[in-house]
Amino acid sequence: MVKKTGNIEKFYQYAFPMQAAILTCIDKNGKTNPITVAWHTPISKKPALYGVSISPSRYSYKLIKESKEFAINFAPYKLVERIHICGTKSGKKINKIKEIGLTLSKSKKIKTKIIKECFANLECKLYRSVKLGDHTFFVGEVVNIKIDEAAFENDILDNKKVKPCYYLGNNTYTTISNIRKQF
Ligand SMILES: Cc1cc2nc3c(=O)[nH]c(=O)nc-3n(C[C@H](O)[C@H](O)[C@H](O)COP(=O)(O)O)c2cc1C
Repeated sequence: MVKKTGNIEKFYQYAFPMQAAILTCIDKNGKTNPITVAWHTPISKKPALYGVSISPSRYSYKLIKESKEFAINFAPYKLVERIHICGTKSGKKINKIKEIGLTLSKSKKIKTKIIKECFANLECKLYRSVKLGDHTFFVGEVVNIKIDEAAFENDILDNKKVKPCYYLGNNTYTTISNIRKQF
């Protein structure tokens, strides 16, 4: 294998693929704004904490700061066009939910709505927010989890039925194959 020196400017390009999820948040009138996020991660089981790194330039940043809650919606690859729109257009200017036609449903523990077409949803209350460089890491306490039972078998995603969406960088997306091995 011939390796060339990596470009630090493009460093995160080499960390892809990452799962593209849609975070939902609400404005003061309760209107939902979806934003695509790839920089999200589980943090802790007890308490259940889930984190997402958001740039202050995003409209969603302001909404999370104000409402102190958000939901993470794990979107299937079949929504890839809509995932891309949520990640390239700003809710500052348009109503993305109207434009892309996703179905919202009520959450159990937060005011922010979740996306019905997604195979799992985490309802999060803001636990902490940490400014780290040019992004802010929002840590959410997961107060409720909703999953599409048909998508999971023994708590494992049935990847023959549901294909998660992964981001490869540079406006390129992919998904997973059916290959798997259980030990
Ligand atoms: C696949 C993908 C992943 C993204 N991940 C993040 C992310 O983790 N954090 C972030 O701040 N922006 C991320 N973005 C950029 C925002 O989604 C984008 O700027 C969006 O238009 C902001 O919407 P808003 O202004 O309505 O909040 C991502 C974009 C794409 C296409």
